[in-house]
Amino acid sequence: MGGTFNPPHNAHMMMARTALDALALDEVWLMPSGIPANKPAPGVSPARRLAMAEAAASGVERVRVSDIEAARPGVTYTVDTMRGLMSGNVGGGRVSYIILIGADLLLTLDRWNSADELLRTCAFAVFPRGSAPDGEAMAAAERLSRSHGANIRWIDAELPDISSTELRERVHAGLSIERLTPAAVQDYIDRERLYNPPPTLTREEMVGILKATLSPRRLEHSLAVERKAARLAKLHNLPEDKAALAGLLHDCAKYLPVGTMRDEAGRLGVAMDASRWNSGGLLHAIVGAAMLRERFGVTDPDILRAVRYHNTGRAGMSMLDTAVYLADKIEDTRKPYPGIEDIRKLAETDLIGAAAMSMRGSAGYVVSRGQPLHPDTPAALAYIAPPGAQSQYPPNASEGG
Ligand SMILES: [Fe+2]
Ligand SMILES: [Fe+2]
Repeated sequence: MGGTFNPPHNAHMMMARTALDALALDEVWLMPSGIPANKPAPGVSPARRLAMAEAAASGVERVRVSDIEAARPGVTYTVDTMRGLMSGNVGGGRVSYIILIGADLLLTLDRWNSADELLRTCAFAVFPRGSAPDGEAMAAAERLSRSHGANIRWIDAELPDISSTELRERVHAGLSIERLTPAAVQDYIDRERLYNPPPTLTREEMVGILKATLSPRRLEHSLAVERKAARLAKLHNLPEDKAALAGLLHDCAKYLPVGTMRDEAGRLGVAMDASRWNSGGLLHAIVGAAMLRERFGVTDPDILRAVRYHNTGRAGMSMLDTAVYLADKIEDTRKPYPGIEDIRKLAETDLIGAAAMSMRGSAGYVVSRGQPLHPDTPAALAYIAPPGAQSQYPPNASEGG
């Protein structure tokens, strides 16, 4: 499978997985191009596009990334790749190859470099655009078969309507691409700040936005969480700037009406489970993380995750997530609740122990009020403090931030 993969997305991945089964292939290779022959140069280096393809394919069985096209200098022509593969040692013996393409490419295939040779010697499998092959593409396939004896077969699949262009535009606008590409690809894009995401605001500008959207008390809480998260980060050798920023912004969506939060979640393309959807208390974290990106220009995936899970925790939570979770529960302006001083004290030396103590308390409090407990919290607890490893902690610690 060739292409610029700028960036790779879920339709690419579905193509790969579908082809594996439909054609009974041993492997599908994603082959990001060097300089593409038939579109403008992508503006993102082959090395980065390779890295994104690697991220997309990681953990996907029988889907591999090949750098033969990205590593070859000059314009990428498929015929060069195929000559190399078919004459070379790749695969260690008799290997046959099938070129996977989208139906739109059929229309221009006979104008590719050395098209005659390519069409005579290679097999093609074609994915329809939309639910069925359109007439024009089918006519092109028939014509190529007649004129060149081309070996073209159609794959019966309905691919999601996703394009790399759409993804780049969404990132540029600060919108989430969470449902459109594998998480590892989004993380890479965020980390490298690809596709011109919105500019980052100064802290003062962020505080200005919070002042306009939160109550004075909630603003005071946010500033206190900022300070506490930074302190915990310093004590436990974590990135202070990330902790502070996550702490400052963690409740940025807190005062949106539930209906507005749902609208925002829909508009921003945020995926979530039903129990989050149904609870404003849970929604504000997940919508807040999405707003961080769009309104505050924060794209660091570590910060986004810390905000997203600040009220429930999660299995696999990082130390940074834990520091922000805890800072929310024990910041210095919080109304005292049973056990808060013990948690504060423990947090100075044992972040995980303090978080476990706080989670047990929160879980107990939620259950005692007859409310449903989001499954992320017991999962977080089981992750950071496996059963049997800790003693009992006081109940009723807090009601969550
Ligand atoms: Fe919160
Ligand atoms: Fe909070």
